[in-house]
Amino acid sequence: KTKGLALTPPMGWNSWNTFACDIDEDLVKEIADAMVESGLRDAGYQYLVLDDGWLAMERTAEGKLIGDPKKFPSGMEALGEYIHSKGLKFGIYNCAGNKTCAGYPGTRGHEFQDAQTYADWGVDFLKYDWCNTENLNAKGAYQTMRDALYATGRPIVFSICEWGDNKPWEWGAEMGQLWRVSGDIVNCWDCEYGHGSWSSFGVWKIINMRKDIRKYAGPGHWNDLDMMEVGNEFTDAENRSHLAMWCMLASPLIMGNDIRTMSEETRKTLTNKEVIAVNQDSLGIQGFRFLNENNIETWIKPLQNGDWAITFVNMNEKAFELDFNWQKHELGDDLNQKFAHLEHETYQLRDLFNHQDLGNTSKPLKATIGVHDVLMLRLVKK
Ligand code: GLA
Repeated sequence: KTKGLALTPPMGWNSWNTFACDIDEDLVKEIADAMVESGLRDAGYQYLVLDDGWLAMERTAEGKLIGDPKKFPSGMEALGEYIHSKGLKFGIYNCAGNKTCAGYPGTRGHEFQDAQTYADWGVDFLKYDWCNTENLNAKGAYQTMRDALYATGRPIVFSICEWGDNKPWEWGAEMGQLWRVSGDIVNCWDCEYGHGSWSSFGVWKIINMRKDIRKYAGPGHWNDLDMMEVGNEFTDAENRSHLAMWCMLASPLIMGNDIRTMSEETRKTLTNKEVIAVNQDSLGIQGFRFLNENNIETWIKPLQNGDWAITFVNMNEKAFELDFNWQKHELGDDLNQKFAHLEHETYQLRDLFNHQDLGNTSKPLKATIGVHDVLMLRLVKK
């Protein structure tokens, strides 16, 4: 029943990074409206996901989950209808444990009942977290919920939110369509914040955390680098680089900013269709680090029709003058047996953020890359 789900990385918005548990019906409707009006929906962002904080503190007498009646007075089904009426899909959150991470009723022991409740509400996406799971086996717990979702007959994307301790990449494809690879993201470029027993991680910490898991990603099953922090107090350059890297890594693109009030520059970044096309490429190959010289992170990703994406991120604290001689490099992905022999094949160069053609690979490429900014190119085979 999930065949054909998430053949490219899921795209959408999630409430957690900006709002935590402070969510309600009005906010969700305003976000849905903003997704349409800002062009985000038409750029591909589809799922509107309510994270932790939507539930009432108690189940009903029949053991059913209900939304918090103060926050969601019209009920979850009506909210789903509103979301669907905007051409969007409805995502919701719960947890494999007894309680969610924020202390609301968890699904443990109610898997089939909760899955049916979601299906009845028209839910299209379930993020399933891993707090309060004492003595649960991770693979088994996600399998139970997968089976419960199957049993409803409704195609529901299953987003596994286990933070990497039980290697979800090894079994995630059997259970769902995406799995988190790390603890929570935080809106900094390259830092780690300790919170006692757990840490949250900046953009580059997450990117660098898992070296050997790209082989697990592909159509219908993705490494999830977490909801993006694009638009959350980064510079415009950092926003571009963050989005570019999530695209190169074929991560789900789930926004986490307040899209009602984002700047025009952030809107332009998030809706950039040429950049998004790298993420949504039908081959579904996760990119990888190609070079890291002069503090320039250089990543490549094979694309359909023999094209490639190449992304240069300037990690320096000053602008960098790039002078890249294509003839000296062969782009190669041994895992997927994809190669670009640049010494005797010419590719056209397309600058994806600036929507410009930059000649071809017969001549060295010269460009200035600002602080923490990115040059993201598509190499188009002639
Ligand atoms: C965990 C998850 C987060 C978020 C919170 C909600 O920390 O990893 O993404 O869902 O729980 O409480």
